[in-house]
Amino acid sequence: MRVDIISIFPEYFAPLDVSLMGKARERGILDIRAHQLRDWAHDVHKTVDDTPYGGGPGMVMKPSVWGEAVDAVIAGGRPRMIVPTPSGRPFTQAVAMEYATEPWLLFAPARYEGIDARVIEEYGSRLRVDEVSIGDYVLAGGEAAVLVIVEAVARLLPGVLGNAESARDDSFAPGAMENLLEGPVYTKPPTWRGRDVPEILLSGHHGRIARWRRDQALRRTAQNRPELVARLELDRNDHAVLDSVRDGASFREAGGDMAD
Ligand code: ADE
Repeated sequence: MRVDIISIFPEYFAPLDVSLMGKARERGILDIRAHQLRDWAHDVHKTVDDTPYGGGPGMVMKPSVWGEAVDAVIAGGRPRMIVPTPSGRPFTQAVAMEYATEPWLLFAPARYEGIDARVIEEYGSRLRVDEVSIGDYVLAGGEAAVLVIVEAVARLLPGVLGNAESARDDSFAPGAMENLLEGPVYTKPPTWRGRDVPEILLSGHHGRIARWRRDQALRRTAQNRPELVARLELDRNDHAVLDSVRDGASFREAGGDMAD
C-alpha cells in the first residue's frame, strides 16, 4: 500500500519507522512518503495560512498551497484522500478494514482552524475524500490522527501481523467478537506479588476456558462500554453474567465494598 502524507511537520511521522510499521516498510508492504506542505508555498516566509473570512479566532490553511501540493503528489493518480478533523465521520475498525483494501491513501492533516473548505470540495469532485475523526476530543493538529489511522490500517495488511497476533479476534472486528471488548490476559509466573492467575486458565479445560473468557469479556464490556451491550447476541449464560455485573454495580452505587 502506498501512503502519502502532506503536512507542515513531516518529521512527525518518524515513529512509522519503528516496530511493526517499520518492518512492514522494510518488507515493501507499506510505502510511506511524508511531504513538507511548505515546499509548495512561494513567499519568503513559506506561508500556509491566512485569516478566516467572516472573522473569528485562529487561521485557516490556504487553498492555493494545498492545491499545488495535492496535484503534485497525486500526479494524475486517484488515491483515497483522508482529511482528519474532529468534525469528520468516526474512524472505526470497519473503516480501518475498508481502507486496508485500498492500494493508495493520501492524508491531508491540518493545523490551525483547518483547511479552506474548497480544497475538500475540489478533490471531492475528483477523488474519494473522507473527513474522519478519531474521537470526540480536539488535537492540536491532524498529524497524531494520521499516525493512529495508518497504524490501525497497516496492521490489517497481509503479511504485517504474524499468525500469532492475528487480527481476526480483535475487539470491534466484524464477526463473532464484534462489540465485545477483550478480557484480561495473563502469563507466567502463576503467582506474582501474591496474586494468582485465575485457576481456570491452568485447568486445560478448553471449553470452560472459552466460557470464562467470554464472561470476562462481557463483564468488561458492561462496565466500560455499556452502550455496546445492546448490540450483543446473548445466550442464557451471558444474561446471568450481565445480571451479576448489574447487581454489583447497584451494590457499589449504594456505597458497598468495591471488591466483587
Ligand atoms: N484533528 C484535531 N482533532 C482531531 C480528531 N479528534 N480527529 C481527527 N483529526 C483531528
